Amino acid sequence: MCGIIGYLGDKQATPILMESLKRLEYRGYDSAGVAVMETDIHSTLTKSERKVDDLIAKLSQNMPKGTLGIGHTRWATHGRPTIVNAHPHSDCYARIMVVHNGIIENFKELKEELEAKGHEFTSETDSEVIPHLVEDLYQGDLLSAVRQALQKIKGAYAMALYSHDDPELLIGARLNAPLVVGMGEGEWFIASDITAIIPYTKRVLILGEGEIVAISPVGPQVTTLDGVAVEPRVISVDWDVTQAQKGGFDHFMRKEIHETPEAAANVLRGRIQDNGEVTFNEFTATEEQLGRIRNVKLLGMGTSLHAAMIGEYVIEDWAGIPSKAEDASEFRYRRPMVAEDTLAVVVTQSGETADTIMGMRQALDRGALTVAITNVVGSTAARDAHGVIYLQAGPEIGVASTKTFVSHAISHYLLAIRLAASRNRLSPERLEDLVAALRGLPEGIRAVLAMEERIKELAQRYSKYRNFMFTGRGINYPIALEGALKLKEISYLHAEGTSGGELKHGPIALLDQNFPVVAICTNSLTREKMISNVHEMAARDAPVLALVTAGDSSADAVAADVLVMPAADEAAGALLNTVALQLFAYHVAVALGTNVDQPRNLAKSVTVE
Ligand code: AGP
Repeated sequence: MCGIIGYLGDKQATPILMESLKRLEYRGYDSAGVAVMETDIHSTLTKSERKVDDLIAKLSQNMPKGTLGIGHTRWATHGRPTIVNAHPHSDCYARIMVVHNGIIENFKELKEELEAKGHEFTSETDSEVIPHLVEDLYQGDLLSAVRQALQKIKGAYAMALYSHDDPELLIGARLNAPLVVGMGEGEWFIASDITAIIPYTKRVLILGEGEIVAISPVGPQVTTLDGVAVEPRVISVDWDVTQAQKGGFDHFMRKEIHETPEAAANVLRGRIQDNGEVTFNEFTATEEQLGRIRNVKLLGMGTSLHAAMIGEYVIEDWAGIPSKAEDASEFRYRRPMVAEDTLAVVVTQSGETADTIMGMRQALDRGALTVAITNVVGSTAARDAHGVIYLQAGPEIGVASTKTFVSHAISHYLLAIRLAASRNRLSPERLEDLVAALRGLPEGIRAVLAMEERIKELAQRYSKYRNFMFTGRGINYPIALEGALKLKEISYLHAEGTSGGELKHGPIALLDQNFPVVAICTNSLTREKMISNVHEMAARDAPVLALVTAGDSSADAVAADVLVMPAADEAAGALLNTVALQLFAYHVAVALGTNVDQPRNLAKSVTVE
């Protein structure tokens, strides 16, 4: 995920920016850059399309001198990882320098308007509209121009900006993306997270949503975008750098699970129009192309295969197109029924999984229309497929996929709605309900995260068992499979997943008082069937941990434990269940003392067959 650093003080800015960017590397990024104001009329801009060490090598040859500067590590969301796309970005006259994290949803409209007025853009990024917009609105008061510019922007931003028009002012602002201000002695820092500034100061001003900070040599002033003064909230932190990199969490995995509400908001951002229509910037197949599709193959491995199974379910249900999730490594060596009327959905967080890429090539060779759903801009899947849906989830450092699974599932929901629209399959009422359910997801996920203490208590008790069965039906069947995979990946316990119906056709033989079952019984078409299955499991003495929807007491008498989930639509509820099961797996693993972030024998990206 992108990182921001800004400095205004009495020291040389360049070495501080370089060190801070090094500390932001853990967030994952592909390119980096800094701008330092050397004189009233000149800033030196240095960028690299590679790592911070490469940027440092460039800076070391020609160290810009100045006490005001900004720096950035970029993790590409709009435009490839190139020098021109790397931040900082500037206006037409290189007077205004900006670094930005987040996604500007209406950047195309803004860019068109600005180009019509004569502004010249050099990059493919959404971020570059900010300096041009500020330039356009500037009439002698920089802060006012920034406020007006931000009021025109839809989406999410955390940014740092300075201008030669006001050479003693460093401005920061945020909306739906974090930004903090480090309060030193006669020096101030703007940073996307505390990690960047921790060696310099432990006093941190936390900027609120929609607030803007103007830092001058007398200190910071915080206001809203409307110019109303805000009392600054300054806290003291005593984290070391490692703690700060994990945002105060013990493990990246837990941090990333807690980032799921933001990831869910990001994958939805800008993709559902006011009338419920779904659009994707990088997957622009025509109505004619979509209308030709007669079957959908969804290719993935591991967690991504489970996400593909969710896609299979909703594409068939909502869009009425025969769909099949495929283990890409098997698909590759079969002679699958794939032709020009097939849509191949390539489901891969990394975009580099060898099995999935080879499956994609098979589909391409047979003339299928392909769309990759991936988190990594410029990855092989993104480059080679006809279209891309980016997850925009931010990098995932824990080997076990968590937030990206949820983002993948949401992408499938969006794709299913898009395909349904091409066939007029969803009634306006159903579409409205689905859109409302999707928009409510970040809030619903937050409610599940708030249940963490209860989930931890259950996980600690259940960590004494060595075998687990996970079961669910319908859209919760892949959720059960994923629950089992998560647990086995990080705790090394034996866990398997099965559908509620399949259970009694064999797996039930395993059950006894030492073989617990995690049964997903939340609201769905098949809830009553699942409750019957719970009775069958309990009759074999298996301790059952049942996930039920708030207000449903039908499992109370028969399950050993009940985890009460927030009420939600079936598709949204499945994702709430998955977050609960991720937390369950995490706390079991912590109780057992395994290496949660880097489990044995596993790699984040498997690039060999
Ligand atoms: C997920 O927890 C695993 N690390 C693994 O199953 C992963 O989902 C699989 O290797 C596919 O990876 P991809 O999404 O990057 O293609």
